[in-house]
Amino acid sequence: MNILVTGGTGYIGSHTTIELIKAGHTVAIMDNLSNSKIEVLDKIEIIAGKKPAFFPVDLLDFDATLKAFKSSRFDAVIHFAGLKAVGESVEKPLWYYENNIEGTINLLKAMKETDVSKLIFSSSATVYGDRGEDSARLNETMTTGVNVTNPYGWTKAMIEQIIRDVCGADPKFEATVLRYFNPVGADKSGLIGEDPNGIPNNLMPIVMKVYLGKIPELTIFGDDYDTEDGSCERDFIHVTDLAKGHLKALEHSKPGVSVYNLGTGKATSVLSIVNAFEKISGKTLPKKIGRRRAGDLKSICADPEKAEKELGWKAELSIEDVIEDTLRYLGNCE
Ligand code: NAD
Ligand code: UFG
Repeated sequence: MNILVTGGTGYIGSHTTIELIKAGHTVAIMDNLSNSKIEVLDKIEIIAGKKPAFFPVDLLDFDATLKAFKSSRFDAVIHFAGLKAVGESVEKPLWYYENNIEGTINLLKAMKETDVSKLIFSSSATVYGDRGEDSARLNETMTTGVNVTNPYGWTKAMIEQIIRDVCGADPKFEATVLRYFNPVGADKSGLIGEDPNGIPNNLMPIVMKVYLGKIPELTIFGDDYDTEDGSCERDFIHVTDLAKGHLKALEHSKPGVSVYNLGTGKATSVLSIVNAFEKISGKTLPKKIGRRRAGDLKSICADPEKAEKELGWKAELSIEDVIEDTLRYLGNCE
């Protein structure tokens, strides 16, 4: 297939592009490089053997977006482009609503105008909202868009609704919504990994910067939760497993909206992933226990059974793989 990947120079998009090229697809990336670097294209070429075409386009620019669509005949779109920092979304909500929602509307309009009707959308476990004790194992039948805790999460819940409505109005439109849990790790080549512009917000990119000495110490946000070791638990999924889920979603795409969790089904605590990182790297990280972070939920874990049954997809890589691949990538960053 000829596939347009929006946000394809970013973390998950670049890893997915590699898997798409390896599987024989032709890929074009559309990205405004607001949170990624153009050099990723060369790395993709080294790893996958082919450089994707590149449109340096901001999805907020409808004319440029449509022009890119008219310049090629895409069979499908995988839509990663968006802003994703939870804390920043609380400070700059309008920017998040504009970028994520208007960007998606422009994309959908350009798809409609050029008769492209297959979409895969990057959603997030955050759409399940704060469900108290019920957060532990989330499945696709649960309600979403209730008690969502930040504007970023609301953009995902709202975009899911927009996609449902677009499918409702066009019986031939095929949309797959993938709800990611916590993506971590790097391609096993060690050539690409998570490399956000600016100060990172997520656990692993912070651990990586502490390891490299670029951030003085790691703060673990709370060790007084009602969990086995007191720290929060998350479903950490290797980014390559996640990337492969998109290939399966493409293969099984069908008219209407299909929704799948992409997670491992296993919760790992913050303390235990940090301990594993120290053990495998052989380096003790400067760290302290801090206060709970506002808005954090105690434990979040996917029920990934639907993706296994319907897509034949299952996460295969372990936390050890995540850390070894991350360290290989860091070795190339030093
Ligand atoms: P990322 O920031 O590395 O990649 C997103 C890419 O989109 C970046 O390259 C950025 O430059 C581009 N972009 C942003 N706004 C754009 C616009 N208006 N026009 C064109 N390009 C634009 O993020 P990621 O971690 O790879 O996430 C990809 C997708 O997955 C996002 O939609 C994110 O919300 C979603 N997601 C991520 C996580 C996570 O923890 N990483 C979890 C759940 C869902
Ligand atoms: N954490 C720390 N110290 C840090 C950073 C994070 O202890 O410096 C802890 C957090 O408190 C949390 C865990 O590590 O318990 C994971 O935090 P992240 O910020 O890495 O990830 P979140 O689970 O908060 O959020 C992620 C994505 C969201 C997505 C959500 C879905 O960033 O986009 O998963 O579950 F919506």
